[in-house]
Amino acid sequence: MKISVIGCGYLGAVHAASMAELGHDVVGIDVDRAKIESLQQARAPFYEPGFEVLLGRSLASGRLRFSTNMADARGAVVHFLCVGTPQKRGEYAADLRYVEAAVESLLEALEPGDLVAGKSTVPVGTAARLAELIEGKVPGAMLAWNPEFLREGFAVQDTLHPDRLVYGLSPDPSGQTARAVLDEVYAPIVAAGTPQVVTDYATAEMVKVAANSFLATKISFINAMAELCEATGADVKQLADAIGHDDRIGRKFLNAGLGFGGGCLPKDIRAFMARAGELGADQALTFLREVDNINMRRRIRMVDLAREVLDGSLLGKRVAVLGAAFKPDSDDIRDSPALNVAAQLQLQGAVVRVTDPAAGDNIRRSWAQLDVVDTAEEAAERADAVLLLTEWQQFRDLDPVAFGRVVAQKRVLDGRNALDMDRWVAAGWTYRALGRRAG
Ligand code: UDX
Repeated sequence: MKISVIGCGYLGAVHAASMAELGHDVVGIDVDRAKIESLQQARAPFYEPGFEVLLGRSLASGRLRFSTNMADARGAVVHFLCVGTPQKRGEYAADLRYVEAAVESLLEALEPGDLVAGKSTVPVGTAARLAELIEGKVPGAMLAWNPEFLREGFAVQDTLHPDRLVYGLSPDPSGQTARAVLDEVYAPIVAAGTPQVVTDYATAEMVKVAANSFLATKISFINAMAELCEATGADVKQLADAIGHDDRIGRKFLNAGLGFGGGCLPKDIRAFMARAGELGADQALTFLREVDNINMRRRIRMVDLAREVLDGSLLGKRVAVLGAAFKPDSDDIRDSPALNVAAQLQLQGAVVRVTDPAAGDNIRRSWAQLDVVDTAEEAAERADAVLLLTEWQQFRDLDPVAFGRVVAQKRVLDGRNALDMDRWVAAGWTYRALGRRAG
């Protein structure tokens, strides 16, 4: 099947390579020349385990190519819309300018019978509006909404083996045609028995934001419990283990710590609130404001804890920050809680050294004021305190005995509840974490 993928950022690039892996003939299109050149040379423009191998394989098969020219989408029968929908500057709402520009230029290449499949996360109501536009300009062309749930760090696995397929379809007969086309695109995934949920446009759009809102709420719930644990002397990690055994609750996404960041959860819950306001349903989502507030409070609490451990003042104190990406196995620093904390510490007079296994170059590009070094040992040299802010496996695996020889003071603050407290305490460290007693 001939497929075009419009927008080759994180989602689009992985989707394009995955569709070629499924046997389709794919062209990935993006206006960013540098990105397209890099992808065409089998170099991933971002860090994602397994992606570069898949990209190389798909290019070598001859089934994948990249282009900056929208006219190359002509001839494809399915066009996946994968452009970004960032938060508007100074507002909660999503910025749809890339979606609109992509559809506008795609219209030139569309032919009757083509299917446009939206994957970007959009405010509810966008699909119906785009369907009208597309069907009005190119009679016989169709639109379906087919949200994507990939996680960074697991993007390839999540795309090739998703836990569900969601199709938002038109109520017209063309909806059933679109369904058959999508089934053909995803044939191996469908054959593997992946659950399918077939809905209208609005439900499909809502599935994505509702899922992300639920995940964000779950994280903020356990972080609110962490605040209570600090007030009562209880232990949030044991609490999460105990409530997580109830399979109605489940242990996943109950890791208390610095909270959520990245390019999705924060902006998606804000855009959802903004859209609810436009629809006159804002009351239904006021709890999400609290979810956001709890999340942002974690960052302040981390800085306060560092100050407390450093005898009441950050001024001139040497602080090592381990981890800067918004989560491990990613080089993405968008709305990274770790970087936010590092910057606050520096603003308050600490001498901060940051290290991250993958995000170093991104930090140097956009946070030039931060001192970035290559290894945990360099960051921790003569440090008065070490802060673990993104739980990369290599930081979890640090040997507290050897690492203790590098620092000036053996004080560790575990912002992700990821270290083995007993091991660090046994090696002579003062251990502090959010929502746990001092060790
Ligand atoms: C998320 C959704 O999981 C994915 O389905 C959607 O398509 C895009 O948004 P992603 O942003 O890649 O994916 O990361 P995710 O693994 O969900 O983590 C988000 C943030 O929550 C990270 O900052 C992570 O550190 C934090 N988190 C996660 C916690 O603080 N505690 C947890 O228990 C889990």
